[in-house]
Amino acid sequence: MTSPFSQSIEPPAGKFLLAIESSCDETAAAVIDRDRRVLSSVVATQHELHERFGGVVPEIASRAHLERILPVIDEALRRSNMRLTDLGAIAVATHPGLVGSLLVGLTAAKTLALVLDIPLLAINHIEAHIYACRMAAGRDVFPAVGFVVSGGHSNLYDCVSPVEFELLGSTTDDAAGEAFDKVAQILGLEYPGGPQIEVIAKKGDPKAIHFPRTFLNDARLDFSFSGLKTAVLYAARGTPGARAQPLPLTPQRIADLAASFQAAVIDILIGKCDQALKRTGRNTLLVGGGVAANTLFRHRLNELASHRKIELIIAEREHCTDNAAMGALGWELWERGLTSPLDLDVKPGLVRNRNPA
Ligand code: KG4
Ligand code: ZN
Repeated sequence: MTSPFSQSIEPPAGKFLLAIESSCDETAAAVIDRDRRVLSSVVATQHELHERFGGVVPEIASRAHLERILPVIDEALRRSNMRLTDLGAIAVATHPGLVGSLLVGLTAAKTLALVLDIPLLAINHIEAHIYACRMAAGRDVFPAVGFVVSGGHSNLYDCVSPVEFELLGSTTDDAAGEAFDKVAQILGLEYPGGPQIEVIAKKGDPKAIHFPRTFLNDARLDFSFSGLKTAVLYAARGTPGARAQPLPLTPQRIADLAASFQAAVIDILIGKCDQALKRTGRNTLLVGGGVAANTLFRHRLNELASHRKIELIIAEREHCTDNAAMGALGWELWERGLTSPLDLDVKPGLVRNRNPA
């Protein structure tokens, strides 16, 4: 692969990669060796700061990153027993994400790269979520279908290699994790909503309410969750203009709504994975992102894999939600000479075609 910044320099022996992640509301740093072993991984979450708003407040997130970034990097070095001089390159998530949040990580990364005179590597946060599957497997897993199901994205890719991704489909409105968070808010549950819905759904009947499975029978590999979210809202609070009052939101009704919603989302996610596997003919499926921590989803993915006789690799639970260990993807860039210049900038929006800078 060629790039304007490509330098075919072999990473020096005995040096380590420091990865930094601050794309949303987690401040994280990790030290990773050449065999992709994670020597330390530190994640400082900000959930308590955003909880009362029911979602991430960008300005609060960037301020919190500013306070935490240096202690988090320090702690990652301390836990791995490394000094700054042991580092050979700095990888940092530069896209996509919240602009203010990304800038904090990038500024820290650039400063270290400049002071230590070592390469800077630009990490695509979504591709890193899929690379978490490479970490779980402990070996090369490409080519494959890659699926990122997070708070910000529901993206299906044909992953030709760790650094060549073709987007097959994405959401036309809300991401799957975002739908979990918004439905949790409707049901009066805490933020982030995914884990709360998962727990409460265990006490509910997934067949109690039939929610729409948008695009499930459509040939395109895109998603839409906003109709489903509105359907839950109307089921919980009543349809505007309708005479019938909604059933009271008892704990059992909340559990039934949560279970029925979760079943609908997972049916859609599994259906689209199946279509993507058929379309690409790939026989490996990689799944990462926060929603991949969901037990029912993991179970249904395993059923799909046995049915289609394909290899399934799901990121380890601790590497499903945002973390810096998945920035081990930086090794792939470094080994290919895909380093970035010090005037590197963040790209908050989703980059459809890979751009190494
Ligand atoms: O990957 P992630 O940490 O952040 C983004 O890059 O967006 O994903 C966070 C999302 C949140 O929407 C959260 O509700 C969802 O992942 N999530 C879950 C579960 N754990 C986290 N959704 C469903 N079930 C879970 N167990
Ligand atoms: Zn993420």
